[in-house]
Amino acid sequence: MRLLVTGGAGFIGSNFVRYVLGERPAVRVTVLDNLSYAGSLRSLEGLDPERFRFVRGDIADADLVGGLVPEHDAIVHFAAESHNDNSLRDPTPFVHTNLVGTFTLLEAARRHDVRFHHISTDEVYGDLALDDPARFTESTPYNPSSPYSSTKAGSDLLVRAWVRSFGVRATISNCSNNYGPYQHVEKFIPRQITNVLTGLRPKLYGDGLNVRDWIHTEDHSSAVLAILERGRIGETYLIGADGERSNREVVEAILELLGEPSDAYDLVRDRPGHDVRYAIDSSKLRAELGWAPRYTDFRAGLAATIQWYREHEDWWRPAKDEVEAAYAAQGQ
Ligand code: NAD
Ligand code: DAU
Repeated sequence: MRLLVTGGAGFIGSNFVRYVLGERPAVRVTVLDNLSYAGSLRSLEGLDPERFRFVRGDIADADLVGGLVPEHDAIVHFAAESHNDNSLRDPTPFVHTNLVGTFTLLEAARRHDVRFHHISTDEVYGDLALDDPARFTESTPYNPSSPYSSTKAGSDLLVRAWVRSFGVRATISNCSNNYGPYQHVEKFIPRQITNVLTGLRPKLYGDGLNVRDWIHTEDHSSAVLAILERGRIGETYLIGADGERSNREVVEAILELLGEPSDAYDLVRDRPGHDVRYAIDSSKLRAELGWAPRYTDFRAGLAATIQWYREHEDWWRPAKDEVEAAYAAQGQ
């Protein structure tokens, strides 16, 4: 099995590459990544060169993609502009990568009849009220809020159309918020951990009561592999690990685990259009493919993640000041 993994130098992609090479000795991986601000070759260090190759390039480059795709049995498509706050500052690269990039890959998959798995997000469904007993399912209507989530929703719809109209052998997964090693310091959990480690106070948007449904990134990887190998073509699978927590609860846990008072955080300007709550019902994935998460103790997973950031300051330090300056400029 030769896999073309787009976005493999990013957070979830690099974790997936390590996971699949570890779990499947017969698999070979090519990573296609343009090394945007969010990608780093340092996240892929130490992989076996006999089974792993890196290609730097843009997924919207039709010539490059057209040459690579026929050399592979499947595409696992992680590459995206992934951060909501950035999409509010400038949506332009989100349209390019998430929409034009996905279209370019789909066209190549169609031309060469290559299996395609599309990585998406629960944010395509919009948000839920805090007191709503409902969770997202595969039949929840699309209702995205931000430039990021609307371009992800658009890319999902392209995949669905390419399955139905052209017979592309594709599946889609929509996952909830990931945490774990190699996540960029712009994102919530790494930002707060590295704030404390550098003497800054954690920053909570608004009242801090928004809820996210956390899953360890290794559990996301195992779910993607299950869908790639055993998922039904044309189907969508929601991935989640029953990890609902308010942002305030998460910050308090980070502070406690780092030996700080649990109220040593600041409330800052809210994100415009801030989704209130995400919650995933992953029954279909569990029942159909027998998948279950391994990281069921969020506090233990968080403690391990904190330890990783303690031990890898050389990985995150170069990006930290610029990220904080951009947040400070908008009162966050
Ligand atoms: P990330 O920002 O850490 O990584 C994205 C990677 O894509 C980077 O390595 C970047 O260099 C690369 N990339 C960006 N534009 C590219 C282009 N035009 N051509 C080639 N490579 C390009 O993102 P992530 O958090 O790892 O997310 C990966 C995927 O998972 C995304 O599709 C995202 O929508 C989805 N997702 C993320 C989460 C989450 O919690 N982070 C949850 C559900 C789904
Ligand atoms: O749900 C899946 C999505 O999760 C993915 O599709 C996205 O790629 C990923 O970035 C993530 O989106 P969020 O917007 O939920 O993640 P973020 O880490 O930016 O923020 C998580 C929550 O924390 C959100 O409610 C905003 C809040 N927040 C964020 C930052 C950076 C803060 O309160 N303070 C902060 O400093």
